[in-house]
Amino acid sequence: MSAFQTYFEQKGDPKSQPLVLIHAFPLHSAMWNPQFEALAKDFHVVRYDVRGFGKSKVDDPQVTIELFVDDLLALLDQLKIKEAVLCGLSMGGYIALRFAERHPERVSGLVLADTKSDADGNEAKIKRAQGVGIIKNRGLESFLKPFVQGAAVNVVAQAEMLKWGMESPPSAVAGALIAMAGRTDTTPALAKFDFPTLVIVGDKDTITPDGEKLRKGIPGAKLVTLSGAGHLSNLDQAEPFTKAVREFAKAI
Ligand code: MLT
Repeated sequence: MSAFQTYFEQKGDPKSQPLVLIHAFPLHSAMWNPQFEALAKDFHVVRYDVRGFGKSKVDDPQVTIELFVDDLLALLDQLKIKEAVLCGLSMGGYIALRFAERHPERVSGLVLADTKSDADGNEAKIKRAQGVGIIKNRGLESFLKPFVQGAAVNVVAQAEMLKWGMESPPSAVAGALIAMAGRTDTTPALAKFDFPTLVIVGDKDTITPDGEKLRKGIPGAKLVTLSGAGHLSNLDQAEPFTKAVREFAKAI
């Protein structure tokens, strides 16, 4: 069995503040196109494809959020990054939250965009199982089309999401649904976070409109609500999103 290699790209001065961008389900690192180069003017920006997605292809579709955290730790070690600002959107936020709970010493700041700390309840688990069924019985596109329509306001962003979503194997997308259904509740850890945290949420996010709850739970956290943005707030309101992350990470 060959060792798994995460696909990543890095840009910016390696001596500047490391900033790691963690993508949403079921996309890949291209979703950070509007932010990657723009933020590299000020930071050492790393974006990567979570195991199974994009160019981080694997034969084995069985994954967990714990494994995604292990992969992120291995990537930071590989790049010799001691501490980073982690910026995760939605599933990327689930990974960042659990990483921060397990490895707080590797976190210099946290950006939690359109995400939540709660685990899935029964209703959400059943919806994940239905998603797996749709992918297996009707194909990935049948699952993705309604998903992207609910996830972004901007129709160009919806089209990009559909394209990126179709670039990962159906088994990886189904595997990640099961991983998200099995993730832990990170809410009890929030009160212990002792690094600067920025919470971002689109005011039209109907999937994870939990920004205020996260802000309240994390000591000193700041909340930015982006007007006119849905769940994929970095695509719907790209410039204000980038500005919020830049101002936050520069102050660390
Ligand atoms: C995402 O955007 O990463 C997903 O919508 C997260 C989820 O389904 O819980």
